[in-house]
Amino acid sequence: TMQQVVTIAELRQHLKEARRQGKRVGLVPTMGYLHEGHLSLVNEAKKHCEIVVMSIFVNPLQFGPNEDFDRYPRDMERDLKMAASAGVDFVFSPSVGEMYPQQVKTNVSVSGVSEPLCGRSRPGHFDGVATVVLKLFQIVQPDYAFFGQKDAQQVAVVEQMVRDLSVPVTIIPCPIVREADGVAMSSRNVYLSAEERKQAAVLYRSLQLAEKKVASGADLDSVRDEMIRTIEAEPLADIDYVELLRYPDLTKPEAPEKGDRVLIALAVRFGKTRLIDNVIVTV
Ligand code: PAJ
Repeated sequence: TMQQVVTIAELRQHLKEARRQGKRVGLVPTMGYLHEGHLSLVNEAKKHCEIVVMSIFVNPLQFGPNEDFDRYPRDMERDLKMAASAGVDFVFSPSVGEMYPQQVKTNVSVSGVSEPLCGRSRPGHFDGVATVVLKLFQIVQPDYAFFGQKDAQQVAVVEQMVRDLSVPVTIIPCPIVREADGVAMSSRNVYLSAEERKQAAVLYRSLQLAEKKVASGADLDSVRDEMIRTIEAEPLADIDYVELLRYPDLTKPEAPEKGDRVLIALAVRFGKTRLIDNVIVTV
């Protein structure tokens, strides 16, 4: 049976016991308002680990002053039911005061991979992510941690941090889970009006089109132009960025070489809602 734990001390106590029994511990970090994307990470975790910890914590450090921290969707009752039926052993759902009892003066900042894409539109966002993820790693000390490719840049940032700081954890990136029309599952999809939700299907359509072109050797700038035209055909879509970068270093490739991975990434606003999506193509 699943247990909800809200303090760092109590979670450490439980995990010490599990580790003493030789059990492998997997961490699935989330901000809650769970959907099939989150649960797919739990599924993967259960393949590698005897104990699965899911954290549910809307981390104020990673939200900008004009972002949606206050209105980020929350429903702990529903999350606990979903986590339990997915087979989570411990839900760690600390308060902001438990995680940050005092003003935080330590910042984990990963240069390079944090800078393009969402790093440009959301200054400080990846510092907030890296700081809370390292803190969760220190609290849980997981053998494995599971992250969705939905946030491909987040995966790159976490992998860089783990390498640079010799954090003893294996990062397992997991595929993007999509709705029937291709829209990537996201807690933020609930913000969309019916019409916005319908038009959002253009994002994955544009990514699929781009994927084919890049795989067949098309020029990256022309692929980008075509994606922009496709997305702009939907009247409610307001492009933040559309970029094609080498993965996982997120540098701009002159011409990709055979075997290179190209991240095709976008962020597009529909009304107040900013959606991100991506595909990775091996050239
Ligand atoms: P959150 O947006 O709740 O996402 C938690 C995890 O679920 C992330 O690793 C994310 O990539 C993954 N995920 C979300 N939607 C997915 C989808 N459609 N398919 C597959 N995986 C998906 O990402 C965060 O929270 C936070 O930044 C966090 C890492 C918890 C740090 O606060």
